[in-house]
Amino acid sequence: MTPKHLFILAILLVFTSCHTPATAQSVADNIIPKPVEVVKTGKQPVVVTGKTQIVADTRFADQAAYLQDLIVAQTGMLLPVQSSGQGKSGRYSHIRLVADSAAVNRAEMYILTAAGRDVTIKARDTRGMVYGIQTLLQLLPLQKTETASIPSVAIKDYPRFAYRGMHLDVVRHMFPVSFIKKYIDYLAFHKFNTFHWHLTDDQGWRIEIDSYPKLNTVGSWRDSTLIGHFNDVPARYDATRYGGFYTKDEVRDVIRYAAIRGIDIIPEIDIPGHSRATIAAYPEFSTKPDTTWNVATTWGMYNRQNNVLAPNPATFKFLETVFHEVADLFPSPYFHLGGDECSTMWWKADPGSQKFIQEHHLKDEKGLQTYFIEQVAGYLADKGKTVIGWHEILQGDLDTSAIVMDWAGDKEAVAAATRHHRVIMTPGKPLYFDNYQSKDPNDSLAIHGYNPLDAVYKYEPVPAALQNTALEKYILGAQGNVWTEYMGNPAKVEYMVFPRMTALSEVLWTPANKKDYEDFKRRLKTAIIPRYNYWHTSYFKDFEKWTSDK
Ligand code: ACM
Repeated sequence: MTPKHLFILAILLVFTSCHTPATAQSVADNIIPKPVEVVKTGKQPVVVTGKTQIVADTRFADQAAYLQDLIVAQTGMLLPVQSSGQGKSGRYSHIRLVADSAAVNRAEMYILTAAGRDVTIKARDTRGMVYGIQTLLQLLPLQKTETASIPSVAIKDYPRFAYRGMHLDVVRHMFPVSFIKKYIDYLAFHKFNTFHWHLTDDQGWRIEIDSYPKLNTVGSWRDSTLIGHFNDVPARYDATRYGGFYTKDEVRDVIRYAAIRGIDIIPEIDIPGHSRATIAAYPEFSTKPDTTWNVATTWGMYNRQNNVLAPNPATFKFLETVFHEVADLFPSPYFHLGGDECSTMWWKADPGSQKFIQEHHLKDEKGLQTYFIEQVAGYLADKGKTVIGWHEILQGDLDTSAIVMDWAGDKEAVAAATRHHRVIMTPGKPLYFDNYQSKDPNDSLAIHGYNPLDAVYKYEPVPAALQNTALEKYILGAQGNVWTEYMGNPAKVEYMVFPRMTALSEVLWTPANKKDYEDFKRRLKTAIIPRYNYWHTSYFKDFEKWTSDK
């Protein structure tokens, strides 16, 4: 070869390597969370253009509109939508959204096939269709284009766990409805099915309540907020009023938005501890009604200041009324009543609480906590709701069908499952995404702890002692928790959850024997980080440097 030939060859090589679109194969290999089964069928790819029709069975009309929005945002192609009963099939290709309970034989499952002129997503429920849609988005280019090619594939996919959740604390910091919706979009993309909305705590009450209006006029606002870290000495405050609450109309709007995306929203009203905002609004529900309480301005209230409800008739009337009011707003069959970190010292010191314990033949203060949980579980049973509580609800002899959310570790989960409670795993290590993801002293402020990405990915929700036993079925799934003391704005929330939430999605969705951390990181870098950029979301970039062994 002459130098001229070599030069031409070099140019050709550069040209082809830059301009080869991601091949059919590679796109289907990059899906997160990794599907149960992907078969490359070797047929003709489907060419998608602005003329491709979305053809949907009527029960998936909302998801067809949702898919149309997603595709136009991602590629610029605005695909016409029609119902499957209507009109003729055109000359162009189709994306068919089909209800099929025969081929699709599990809840939340989808079957996606692409070949020739048809992409078909079959599902038996909304969630299955939503998940097929998320997979389809990952087969399409993440750029503006007038034509795209979808590889010929047959994908059969369903989740490993029934409960796949993400939590968000909107008390320590509150976020606009627009961000709550964005968060729900992040959940849907990752095939999560539950948003746990932590709506009340010591530092504020964040949902509109008609029956007790001071919850909003007083309880939703704090006079000041701690600056810097809780451990800083001396403590400093910003002396700025902070707060707000979501109106019922806003909540209904968010619930509708989530429902189209297959997301159940579980509200949490945290009792009988973590109730300082309630007590600030209605001191008569506290063990010291003559004291003026304010909404908490600092973090970590446990044992420090009175934040527990007193057992008196007015308190129980309040709980019944408010839990009924909130239960009427949320369609979820579940309701989270908190129950965590209830400091019993206030009840010990209060003659009224002691008298109540005696009169109701309760064993001690833990028995009183259980009494509160059982009362509220009863109010919620009136509304057909199943109760979820943090694992501390098991400290007494709880006799309800409550689901236990375990934020401690395997020991508590095994104890709960042994008592035949269903359990959702959300251990501080490694599923608290408010913990640090690096040990870099310059990393952005976090509460404490160290939960790097690899620890999240390698987490196994079923405790070893329950694996392959009859009790295994009590572990419903897991959830990432996001407490926002050190997250003052949406960008900080995003920085803390990404990419850990992406790793958790695969823990919850993908069969355990298909998990592979090196391959996960490859897919994360190839396909998901570009999507974070497309979403304009912040994320923690140093995840390869900071690993569990550091
Ligand atoms: C919790 O972290 N107190 C649930």
